[in-house]
Amino acid sequence: MKFFIDTANLEQIKEAQALGVLDGVTTNPSLMAKEGITGQENILKHYVNICSEVTGDVSAEVISTDFEGIIREGEALAALHSQIVVKVPMIKDGIKAIRYFSEKGIKTNCTLVFSAGQALLAAKAGATYVSPFIGRLDDISTDGLNLIDEIRVIYDNYEFDTQILAASVRHTMHILECAKIGADVMTGPLSAITGLLKHPLTDSGLAKFLEDHKKGN
Ligand code: G3P
Repeated sequence: MKFFIDTANLEQIKEAQALGVLDGVTTNPSLMAKEGITGQENILKHYVNICSEVTGDVSAEVISTDFEGIIREGEALAALHSQIVVKVPMIKDGIKAIRYFSEKGIKTNCTLVFSAGQALLAAKAGATYVSPFIGRLDDISTDGLNLIDEIRVIYDNYEFDTQILAASVRHTMHILECAKIGADVMTGPLSAITGLLKHPLTDSGLAKFLEDHKKGN
């Protein structure tokens, strides 16, 4: 399972990269705004900065919602750096654009996916990644993990190459459950990744080892 970090915060990206378990980064317009990155030039520069901190794929989202606009923006984003994956919303023109990018060899991440039908369409269009938002489904009392399960079955039935990128991951249990189902990738906050480190028996066991070592010396 690949681990992506879902942030535009360079410090957090560096910290996750230093941990040695990071496979990529996802961003979205809200995450960029949260870091105070505004204006087209600054946004493009920031994507390049993120690419220079990591070795894997970096999703950069288009703002346009019409086919021509998505193509124009997506091609400009893809030209920035070889690690850029063009993030395209699950809308009719988005699907058309994903097919176009797929034929041009440009990687895509189909975002804002909330149903298995949408995920099937994204795979048919040739998306590199599909991003079902599990946390946002949980927020409205719908089982987000069940969606990952459904997509896994459908993609396996037809051997689609599209990778399931479990998005809107909020905590460690989301990561573990996605791993059990067989999501190809998860993207979440640094806290969810580092949360996997924690166990009280590790802490008490280590304290005892160090205490015994001190006594023996
Ligand atoms: O990757 C999608 C993600 O950014 C959405 O997460 O926590 O805003 O639902 P969240």
